[in-house]
Order: sequence, then structure tokens, then C-alpha cells
Amino acid sequence: MRTQVAIIGAGPAGLLLSHLLAQGGVESVVLETRSEAYVAARIRAGILEHSSVELLEAVGLGARIRTEGDHHRGIYLQWPGERHHLDFVDLAGRSVWVYGQTEVQKDLIAARAADDQEIHYEVSDVALHEVESDRPYVTFTDKSGSTQRLDCDVIAGCDGSFGPSRHAVPAAKTFERVYPYSWFGILADVAPSTDELIYAWHPNGFALHSMRSATVSRLYLQVPNGTDPESWSDDRIWEELATRLGHGQNGWKLTPGPITDKSVLPMRSYVQTPMRHGNLFLAGDAAHIVPPTGAKGLNLAIADVALLSKALIAQLREKNPALAERYSDDAQRRVWRCTHFSWWMTTMLHTSGDPFDAELQLSQLRWVATSRAGATGLAENYAGLPIGY
Ligand code: APR
Ligand code: PHB
Repeated sequence: MRTQVAIIGAGPAGLLLSHLLAQGGVESVVLETRSEAYVAARIRAGILEHSSVELLEAVGLGARIRTEGDHHRGIYLQWPGERHHLDFVDLAGRSVWVYGQTEVQKDLIAARAADDQEIHYEVSDVALHEVESDRPYVTFTDKSGSTQRLDCDVIAGCDGSFGPSRHAVPAAKTFERVYPYSWFGILADVAPSTDELIYAWHPNGFALHSMRSATVSRLYLQVPNGTDPESWSDDRIWEELATRLGHGQNGWKLTPGPITDKSVLPMRSYVQTPMRHGNLFLAGDAAHIVPPTGAKGLNLAIADVALLSKALIAQLREKNPALAERYSDDAQRRVWRCTHFSWWMTTMLHTSGDPFDAELQLSQLRWVATSRAGATGLAENYAGLPIGY
């Protein structure tokens, strides 16, 4: 088999890249270890930045965001006794959309299918070869058990943090921070008890009230690493959410409902650089992981492939390598901005058990929520900087 770009991974980074390349007249083949049903159903984060929505709309992927998504002007920040609304539109002139990554993934699968994109699901033994040469190739075992070789001009490693691509960059520099807590996430068949997301600091730990639709809520609790989701009863989950989110405070009520999914997510920050080695380019989680506070992971993957698609179209169609040569540096500017923002939100909102930390967090929260300068900093980063920042 032969193509111009071999894309490893059919998550949002890989599928959006194949879509953008196709629009620019560059062909690709996508390889994915999981099944199509699995990638279409995975539950992930749910916030799209302003520039992510603009990009998806510009390339014909915005229709369902407008009809099924929910436009949010901002978020609530709270701590015991106080809840403050930060209006991003007013502060930074931009806003966000609540639209699940699961839905983005479904839109991408539908768009690629409509375009007859070649995607091989359920492959195994994916290996990258000769990435430093002009004739790199990928070998894999296809769904039927046959060994395949895919020759290409360029390999795009969009295979997340567990895939092989990031290991194919020799002498890469890596940066990591592991946090001493995890998020316990639930999905519940109940109307959200809030119009916009609530980020809550509480002495028992952080809590977040998010949502997926008018009838589905998504909520999270800070828990110790290693927590078994099955060790918490549904009643205990709702009681703890009610405590941390301030049920009864100024008449606000948290309405519980049937829990349809429970999972525990570990939290870490990770950056690998450079994001290019020869004719291998990394994008999305393959090159960086952020903790979920602030919902940057998906948006960062979208921003990477926006840059990468332009660079590859210029390299492969116009024989102009300038953008490809700059890709890693260009992408890393936003990566580090989002890495900092996610770390900052995480460390401001999660309790560590140290009373000095708690006082600093409360002081920081009060300043962010009540100073226009403080609030604007959060708003600019949350609603997202322009693509190419
Ligand atoms: N070969 C082929 N595909 C692979 C391999 C492999 N060896 N290993 C992993 N994959 C696939 C995974 O199954 C997954 O579908 O690569 C895909 C990577 O997709 P994501 O994990 O969704 O990562 P990305 O597309 O970069 O999107 C980033 O997803 O993980 C969230 O928080 C993250 O929201 C962010 C977004
Ligand atoms: C989510 O809805 O899953 C979500 C929202 C905001 C975050 C993280 C996750 O900061």
C-alpha cells in the first residue's frame, strides 16, 4: 500500500488531520488499533474553545455543534459561601461551546466516511520504519491477520500517549508532572443543576459540575490516586457532590439522578519535544498530556493538526518545507501555554491537605474572581487563544 501521509491513530487528532489534508488535496491512510464502535463511543471531555469551533465550522464540521451543542458565555468559580460568574464574552470577547468529544469524534467519522477515507480499524503490531528517510513506511497486522506495509512520504503520529510514535523520536526531551489526586467522573441521566459549569474549591477536595446536554450531566470529584470507582455507592457520590458544590447555599440545589457511567482518571502533565523527527510528525496526546482541569486536551489536539495540515500540504504539494520545519516550535508555544494554564487551574482548585496551600488557593481564587485583570487572564486562556498563537 502507498499513500502520502500515513496517520497512526483515529482519535480527534488523526481524523481531523486526514479531513484537513483531504481538503488540501493530500491523501492519507489512517491506522487504528481499536474498533470503529469503540472510538465512536469513548467518553472524554466536553468543552470546545472559540477557535476550535471556528476551525471545525470552516471545514464543514460545525452543523451539529450549532444544533446539539450549548453555547456558554463563561463559568462559575466557587468556594464555600461564595459563587462568582466569570463572563468570558465580556472579559475576553470569546466564549466556549459544550459539545462532547464523543460527538466531535462521531462527526469526524461521518465526514471521513462520506469522503471514502481509507481507515483500517483493529490493526495490531504497528511499527514505524526509516522515519529519517524520504521513504518512511509503517508495518502492521490488519484485522484479518495479514501483515501489511504502508509506504508514504510522511508519518503523522496521532496515536496518543500509549502509541508507538512518540518513542520513534530519539533523544526527545520530556517534561512530566504527576499529581497526587485523580478525578472520579460520572455521567448521569439528569438535567444539569446549573446553566454553566461550576468549578468548586472545597476543603474535602475539588468538584466540577459539567454537562453533555439538557438531559445529561457530567460531574467530577477529586479523589486519592488509586480510588476504585466501585467502592463509592451512588448515594455517597451524590452526597459528596452536594457538599462540595454547595447544595443549599443561597437556595441552590443539586438534583441527583441515575448514574450511567463511573470512571477514575489519573492526572498528569507531560510534554515531549521536538514534535518532529525527519518525516515523522507528532500531534495531540502523542506529544503532550494535560490534566483535565480547563478542558484543554482536545482543543490542543485540534490546534496541532491545524498547524500540521498546513505544513504538510505546503511540503507535499508545493514542495515548500518552511512550515514543516517550524511545526514543532510553532506548536510548542501553544502547548506550553495550555500546559501552564491546566497546571495553574489544577493547583489552584485541588486541595493538597496543607493548610498553607489552602490559604494561598483561596486568596488566588478570590483575586481571580473579583479582579477584572485576574478574571481576564483566566477567560483568555479558557476561551482559548487564536490558532497559531
Ligand atoms: N496503532 C494505531 N493506533 C493507536 C495505537 C497504535 N499502536 N496506539 C493507540 N492508538 C490509537 C488509540 O486507540 C486512539 O484511538 O490512537 C488514538 C489516539 O487518540 P486520542 O487518545 O483520542 O488522542 P488525540 O487524537 O491526540 O486526541 C486528544 O483526546 O485523549 C483525549 O484528552 C485527550 O481530549 C484529548 C484528545
Ligand atoms: C467535561 O465536561 O468532561 C469537562 C469539562 C470541563 C473540564 C474538564 C472536563 O475542565
